[in-house]
Amino acid sequence: MKDKSKPRVFSRRSFVKGIGTSVIGSYAAAPVLSKFSRKVLEEVETESKNKEPLTLRVNGKKVSVSVEPETTLVELLRNKLKLTGTKLICNQGECGGCTVLMNGKAVSSCHILALDTAGSEIITIEGLMSGEKLHPIQEAFIEHDGMQCGFCTPGQVMAAQAILIKNPKPSKDEILEGMSGNLCRCAAYPNIMKSVIAAAAKNK
Ligand code: FES
Ligand code: FES
Repeated sequence: MKDKSKPRVFSRRSFVKGIGTSVIGSYAAAPVLSKFSRKVLEEVETESKNKEPLTLRVNGKKVSVSVEPETTLVELLRNKLKLTGTKLICNQGECGGCTVLMNGKAVSSCHILALDTAGSEIITIEGLMSGEKLHPIQEAFIEHDGMQCGFCTPGQVMAAQAILIKNPKPSKDEILEGMSGNLCRCAAYPNIMKSVIAAAAKNK
């Protein structure tokens, strides 16, 4: 067994030998590396050839980016613009977790291609606050415990906002109908409903 307490001593000979080995190793690896970098370059070139320019407005700001044709709106928001408040849950347009507003209407951002939003106005959960002040719907969700784990909450809040944009004084049935596409795995539905009703009441 090696004595780990002893410091390792390098002789001049072993040091020079070591350097020689690594230099020879680098030369041997050079063709492999250049082949590798060529491949990476080709991939990057193909990727940028596939990209298309896109201009839209997100939370009131003009955004110009280039995206691949298959990029979805939620991928653009979360991965490129770092707006991670919008959650990606089912990725199939089924749960409403990725709901954002597109020109004032609630949409599932996992089901929309980013390129199809050209020229649109997108509002995400990050766009609801005014400075440090929460939006009245966000306040209502806090006041009425409209969340448990909170994962579905950004989508619920954005769906509620779409209802109130369309009709500032919706009936309970209209709220139920408008929120029906937003699922909650914690089943916090009673308090979600209370929160949206309370937010609507602030408009009365
Ligand atoms: S993540 Fe988009 S609808 Fe579920
Ligand atoms: S609060 Fe947990 S999924 Fe809705």
